[in-house]
Amino acid sequence: MKSSDCSRRKLLQYLAGSPLLAGLDNLPLIAAERLDDRDYIAESAEWAVNVFDMENVALKNLSQAHWTYVSQGVDDELTLRANRAGYERLHLRARRLVDVSTISKQTELLGHTLASPIIMAPVGGLGMAHTNGEIEAALGARNTGHKMILSTAATFGIEDVTAARGEPVWYQLYATNIWEITQGILRRVEASGSDVLFLTTDIPDRNQDRMRRFDQNSDACTDCHIPGTTFADRTMLQGLNAPRNISSQNMAMDWAWLRRLRDSTDMKIVIKGITHPEDARLALSAGVDAIHVSNHGGRADESGFATIDSLPEVVDVVRGRIPVIMDGGIRRGMDVLKALALGANAVCIGRPYIWGLAAFGQEGVSKVLQILDHELEVAMRQAGTPSLADITRDTVR
Ligand SMILES: Cc1cc2nc3c(=O)[nH]c(=O)nc-3n(C[C@H](O)[C@H](O)[C@H](O)COP(=O)(O)O)c2cc1C
Repeated sequence: MKSSDCSRRKLLQYLAGSPLLAGLDNLPLIAAERLDDRDYIAESAEWAVNVFDMENVALKNLSQAHWTYVSQGVDDELTLRANRAGYERLHLRARRLVDVSTISKQTELLGHTLASPIIMAPVGGLGMAHTNGEIEAALGARNTGHKMILSTAATFGIEDVTAARGEPVWYQLYATNIWEITQGILRRVEASGSDVLFLTTDIPDRNQDRMRRFDQNSDACTDCHIPGTTFADRTMLQGLNAPRNISSQNMAMDWAWLRRLRDSTDMKIVIKGITHPEDARLALSAGVDAIHVSNHGGRADESGFATIDSLPEVVDVVRGRIPVIMDGGIRRGMDVLKALALGANAVCIGRPYIWGLAAFGQEGVSKVLQILDHELEVAMRQAGTPSLADITRDTVR
């Protein structure tokens, strides 16, 4: 064990035992999300019982800089903590004497049949978690048949990831501040056979204090970043002659920009990062194909508001006209059930599969997906809901 791990563990043990702290909500999220079973280190993916077991191994395997990149939120991390705490305020209304001997988690989404409503969220730069980054993640998803969304900030290109996944992957677009470059990315994505585009809208700007403490050209970071590179060097921008100072974000992006994007591609467009019901209304009028309720896993705004609390407001506006996807803080199958009960058609997970990837590569990713699928089945049995269509708002209180 590295000495930094050892001292971090001691600090956490001290904090966990302190009577001054009422619970996890009060802990600085310098380390893991859950503190019990902290010392359990699974020897292989098979031995991980829940996703927090994967987190333990990831914490051990990742450098401090990369651990910080994965675990951080913004500002004082109110939104990051709120995302988790939100599920604790919702309670299952267990039902009995329903035949739950067979459970179906199958669902239709955006012209695809999904065996499970759990999707792998777009995550930038998975090379920090595993040498083969998104390729390894795609192999993990292939083993279990889950859908995967590839980030614009991915370490590997969409063609290689598609080949590893064995079918076209869905794609997440950062708008960039140069329309022609964005269009160049889009043409490459279309050529890969991808037909669903997630437009991320939630980080016009943000304040990631914890990451800023790391010099990204230091030894801690250069095992996966080449010093001096910019967004222009990202794999998905290669061959597009992007200027060095191109920004992944477009602060001028507005609803007219979205309409222009809508007219420039036949791909289905999902707007990612919606939390306000009025934005859901505007997104519907802009002709999007689905809404993704997300706050970027607590890495965007510091609203202190959980996505599970934003979800019903958006669902009430959408009224079933298009699918609603949500993410943020999902760590248990029961969390998935709660999101589905409040009207989500599917959910995404971010950090849990990164932990799996950092812990055991593709086996870790597959195991995380299997764990959550299994826990969802258990939750569905307790809820007396043998299929996803049986899950309603009455399922939770
Ligand atoms: C390390 C990390 C990198 C991320 N990179 C992206 C990205 O490139 N594009 C994007 O739209 N969302 C990105 N996200 C947000 C995820 O897509 C997703 O919304 C979030 O992780 C869900 O919350 P969870 O991590 O609590 O499951 C990232 C999240 C993490 C943790």
